[in-house]
Amino acid sequence: MRIVLLGAPGAGKGTVARALAAVDGSQTLSTGDLLRAAVKAGTPLGREAEGFMARGDLVPDRLIKELMEAWFQAGYGDRFILDGFPRTIPQAVSLGLLLKGLDRPLDRVVNLVVPEAVLVDRLSTRRTCFNTACNAIYNIRTQPPAEGDRCRLCGAPVVQREDETPEAIARRLQVYGEQTAALVGHYERTGLLLQVRELETSTIVQTILGALTEKAG
Ligand code: AP5
Repeated sequence: MRIVLLGAPGAGKGTVARALAAVDGSQTLSTGDLLRAAVKAGTPLGREAEGFMARGDLVPDRLIKELMEAWFQAGYGDRFILDGFPRTIPQAVSLGLLLKGLDRPLDRVVNLVVPEAVLVDRLSTRRTCFNTACNAIYNIRTQPPAEGDRCRLCGAPVVQREDETPEAIARRLQVYGEQTAALVGHYERTGLLLQVRELETSTIVQTILGALTEKAG
């Protein structure tokens, strides 16, 4: 599959991306994970991105374009699930050009629609594996880590992200409304958009797989 996952912070993009990848081995790409790894490694890109991320603002399009071009050039462009990219109209235009150049059109753009109260609740109770090679996602209520706040997959500590303060969460939701929500209309016009309003991960995955089969058939 070649899909883009859209949705507000906390909508479940990372969770759904991992569940879908488990079905057919597609490569998942989270720009947030790539950026956090760059920050942790102290690369020039990470140093430039760090302040934007901690505040809950978007990282400049120029940096994301650089990151994405490198990712596709590394040969990950055949089957993929994009989580967190694109996030602005210029990023969507860049993605369109990249995929046209690779002759790999998108199958679907999936928008996960989740009420704001649920988003805030999920973000304030999320925990993430500290190991950037793992990045497993947990939730202290619905999907708890192992005892001692350890990752069930790799055993590393499980932590709260820097952008999970109440101020940063509020800012991320505001930025989503101002800069990212417009992508829904953009992709609706391409005929690729699938709006998913279910809240259970397994139901969401079945809905997406059903839509992909329908398209292929
Ligand atoms: P990023 O890491 O992409 O954050 P986000 O979009 O804000 O999304 P999240 O990772 O917070 O949430 P999610 O939708 O993946 O939900 P999750 O599955 O974790 O980006 C972080 C920052 O990086 C941005 O603010 C920006 O600065 C920068 N950035 C990244 N990409 C960029 C770009 N393209 N351009 C510019 N800047 C960029 O789930 C959340 C919680 O809910 C978890 O605890 C999970 O267990 C739980 N949960 C999930 N699904 C369910 C369910 N169905 N039922 C119950 N609980 C659930």
